[in-house]
Amino acid sequence: MANIRENWIRPLFFYGTNRISLLGAALATSSALILIGFWVVDVLGRSGSNNPYLGIVFDLVLPGLFVLGLLLIPVGMWWRRRELRASSQIPSVYPQIDLGNPSLRHAIDFILVATFINFVIVGTATYRGVAYMDTVSFCGQTCHTMDPEWTAYQISSHSSVACTQCHIASGLPGYIHAKLNGTKQLLLEASQRYPRPITSDDKIPAASTTCLNCHNAEKFIGDKLQIKASYGDDEKNSATYSVVLMHVGGKDQFGRLSGIHGAHLGRIEYIATDTTHQTIPWVAKVESDGSTTEYLSSDVKSPPSGQKRLMDCIDCHNRAAHSFDTPEAVLNKAMAKGAPDPSLPFIHKQGLALMKASYSSRQEAISRITSGLEDFYRTQYPQIWSAQRSQIDRAGQTLAALYSRNVFPSMKVSWGTHPNNLGHNDYPGCFRCHDGSHNSKGGKSINNDCSVCHNLIATDDPTPKQLAALGIQ
Ligand code: HEC
Ligand code: HEC
Ligand code: HEC
Ligand code: HEC
Ligand code: HEC
Repeated sequence: MANIRENWIRPLFFYGTNRISLLGAALATSSALILIGFWVVDVLGRSGSNNPYLGIVFDLVLPGLFVLGLLLIPVGMWWRRRELRASSQIPSVYPQIDLGNPSLRHAIDFILVATFINFVIVGTATYRGVAYMDTVSFCGQTCHTMDPEWTAYQISSHSSVACTQCHIASGLPGYIHAKLNGTKQLLLEASQRYPRPITSDDKIPAASTTCLNCHNAEKFIGDKLQIKASYGDDEKNSATYSVVLMHVGGKDQFGRLSGIHGAHLGRIEYIATDTTHQTIPWVAKVESDGSTTEYLSSDVKSPPSGQKRLMDCIDCHNRAAHSFDTPEAVLNKAMAKGAPDPSLPFIHKQGLALMKASYSSRQEAISRITSGLEDFYRTQYPQIWSAQRSQIDRAGQTLAALYSRNVFPSMKVSWGTHPNNLGHNDYPGCFRCHDGSHNSKGGKSINNDCSVCHNLIATDDPTPKQLAALGIQ
């Protein structure tokens, strides 16, 4: 101990008394005290706030200042030593420090203990910083670039699943990959050079490393009844219904595969020519005996070059956690729930036109959608305007809310920016492969028969008797 004091501590004291090192010591000490205070409050469960900016201050900025403070101490020493050297003032013997002096000995012991504590603080802060960067509030709320996904996520069936559970593959390599990627994105964000709109760009980990941690791929689901209402552009907003029995299938208790899920449980590979996989000219089905059937789209002459991908859940359920709708779909769903009220004349036609118009900002959209609807009823239907004011107000607010959930002018996200692959009516979806023109050399094509995927029980029927029979209407 005495030796360490002689040979190390004395020069440290000597060089350490300079402005930079002292500033560093002050910075490190004060941020450490604040941090420890916050951690104590947090452990006692009293911080009580999930404001994302609080996390940035306490889990990223303060630890950063603390480390900066610690680094400034040796930097100051090095700088002082250089200065002294330049003016040949380096002493051969450091000013005598009397190690016999007990108060000085205590001070030195204090430094040794403080160094140990610093290690603990840096360790805790690193752990907390990394954990904090995995929270939903950091991923979804810190940067306004995530507004569209954050908004859609909160109303999805995955609103309690953390972003990282789908965006970071389980295991260390996935974690490191995600952090490197995240750092790049943070730099783009800071320099405002991020792309608008943001797309997934081939960066979504395979379902086997994410979705399948929670879902069982082989679960048997069987048939699922889907009922959709659509409203017309006439004065009465006439409703029609489509009733579809989806053959979702799966693997039954005897191990037999059936339906949509069953058909893709085998190995299917594809090549897409764009990063969001909307154009798929080449598909191959690999059988369990290793034989392969290749399907080539009649749009291309030869198989495209590009990375082969293994088809999984995400190729159909690409919008599982943050889905955006078309204006028609979102309005039909909302009217089926009663707001906007289908008893308002022409509400479907007017509502659609107001939502589809282009606005420069969300504020402008909200005020012009609500005022546009009011103007329409005030001028065209004065009686309705006075008799059904509350329905009109509510309709205006709902339309503005539906718009705000799907269109984000500042991020250049508009109706249709993020296609949903689960279907074929609004986006290519299933028909990226099942369009009837992906053919094998043997003349087989990927099935396009309506009934392999669903039974169309009723299509655009105003009064489907099947629904009446089920007691639904
Ligand atoms: C259930 C899984 C899941 C969860 C939870 C999830 N995502 Fe995603 N995310 C995806 C998939 C799958 C895609 C790819 C979408 C595509 O290619 O169309 C994606 C794409 C994205 C994109 C690219 C742009 C886009 O909309 O396609 C962003 C940004 C994004 N997610 C952010 C988030 C944020 C922020 C959260 C948490 C608030 C989150 N995600 C939670 C599965 C998920
Ligand atoms: C952390 C667990 C977890 C992960 C990871 C996860 N899910 Fe889910 N998923 C759930 C839960 C919980 C539900 C809701 C079940 C319910 O409401 O009955 C759900 C519901 C669903 C549904 C049915 C509801 C709907 O939105 O249509 C689909 C489809 C689905 N998940 C697909 C996926 C896909 C695809 C992925 C990967 C990109 C994924 N999930 C990742 C837990 C998870
Ligand atoms: C070929 C496309 C396709 C693939 C691949 C696919 N699904 Fe589905 N899945 C569907 C369709 C279509 C439905 C029915 C859609 C609906 O109900 O709106 C569905 C329904 C579901 C549901 C909801 C079932 C319910 O009871 O409501 C869950 C959960 C689900 N899929 C999970 C998965 C998981 C997990 C995977 C990957 C192992 C997967 N799916 C792969 C097309 C697919
Ligand atoms: C990446 C290409 C691709 C996409 C996208 C795709 N499929 Fe398939 N699908 C295939 C291939 C390949 C087969 C197997 C064909 C074979 O066995 O000859 C198949 C088979 C099927 C079958 C069984 C057909 C039969 O002849 O029995 C059903 C049902 C099916 N798919 C439904 C869907 C649905 C629903 C969607 C959209 C939600 C979808 N598929 C999206 C490639 C795709
Ligand atoms: C490869 C599978 C597949 C084939 C082939 C297919 N469909 Fe579909 N279809 C779907 C899926 C999946 C949905 C459900 C989309 C959803 O969940 O919103 C759907 C939905 C529908 C709906 C419901 C309305 C709507 O807007 O969702 C209609 C109508 C429909 N299909 C008509 C047809 C007709 C007609 C054919 C034949 C020419 C056909 N489909 C072929 C997979 C298929």
